Amino acid sequence: MLGCKEEAKNEIHSVAEAKSSVTQSVYAVTSEGEEVYKYSLINTKGMQMEVITMGGAIISLTAPDRDGKYEDVVLGYTTPDLYLNGNPSYFGAIIGRYGNRIAKGKFTLEDIDYQLPVNDEVNHLHGGKGFDQKIWKAKIISEDEPSLKLSYTSIDGEEGYPGNLNVTVIYTLTNKNALEISYEADTDKTTIINLTQHSYFNLSGNFKTILDHNLELKADRFLTVDSTLIPTGELRYVAGTPFDFTTAKNIGKDINADNDQLVIGKGYDHCWIFNNTVKHMKEVAGLYHKESGRYMTVYTDQPAIQFYSGNFLDGTLKSKKQGNYEKRSGLCLETQHYPDSPNQKEFPSVVLKAGELYKTKTIYEFSVK
Ligand code: BGC
Repeated sequence: MLGCKEEAKNEIHSVAEAKSSVTQSVYAVTSEGEEVYKYSLINTKGMQMEVITMGGAIISLTAPDRDGKYEDVVLGYTTPDLYLNGNPSYFGAIIGRYGNRIAKGKFTLEDIDYQLPVNDEVNHLHGGKGFDQKIWKAKIISEDEPSLKLSYTSIDGEEGYPGNLNVTVIYTLTNKNALEISYEADTDKTTIINLTQHSYFNLSGNFKTILDHNLELKADRFLTVDSTLIPTGELRYVAGTPFDFTTAKNIGKDINADNDQLVIGKGYDHCWIFNNTVKHMKEVAGLYHKESGRYMTVYTDQPAIQFYSGNFLDGTLKSKKQGNYEKRSGLCLETQHYPDSPNQKEFPSVVLKAGELYKTKTIYEFSVK
């Protein structure tokens, strides 16, 4: 009975404009006795999003198919414990201070050498025990255009990074079925920053595979990587390679191609450089699931995107739908700066100084085709 109710809640058909809302409830309590809250946002079209204060993680997000059927399009765990104890796949979470990898966890800033924790073989990944594992403060900004502000202060030295960093992330579920994510941060000491969002999308409504999705990336070049997924420094043209998504391409088409670069990451786990790197909002990517008609457009002011095809999902995590999450049952489109930028002088700067404001925005907009 309960199961039916849950499903009915998440999978409503679009109705005439309804009242939007944001509601709060207690989601779970950590072993230290701290409460983790859940916020449920609903827009006037009936699109829903659930966010928890642990990691600012989006645990569900619905989008309509071409018949107006709203279904969950982001992967998540079925119980709170994995969100509370390390979020091993970074499902839906805010990633920081530095999304993606820093070689050997080392970098030098203003003549000071820093050593960050090494948590991905020989490298530092996603900020170590990063923002995905912190409890954020939440404040409802608006119920008319459902909007939630999350804040977190990362103290000087946390996970080895310099400077007290105040971060805010605002999630807005617009009444045009777009999820807008606005990030801001400031520091009291020179530091590095590269924030992103780690939702795994699957537009099918069943979370089985993303190999039947089509992807378009407005990027003529990508970063080649070494065997530990650190950029070699080369910006290679995608033309004639499996990395060419300049016109919409089926993700499954080349994924098993005999290409060294795809073997290294066990599939796509690379950073594409947008043709337009000017720091203003631009359309950068499109994801399409033909059967359902669901289409997701990505806009950002960031210079690059990590397209990760869920290669390390291994069938051990239970799906919110049927069965388990198999390899490639979801994909991430993480807008960001280039990986390992602090060590690669030619890459755009990720340095944030005291008195400066880090400000960036990404939009995931849902429609049908
Ligand atoms: C990275 C992958 C990593 C995954 C973890 C992605 O952002 O690019 O290499 O395995 O996050 O979920």
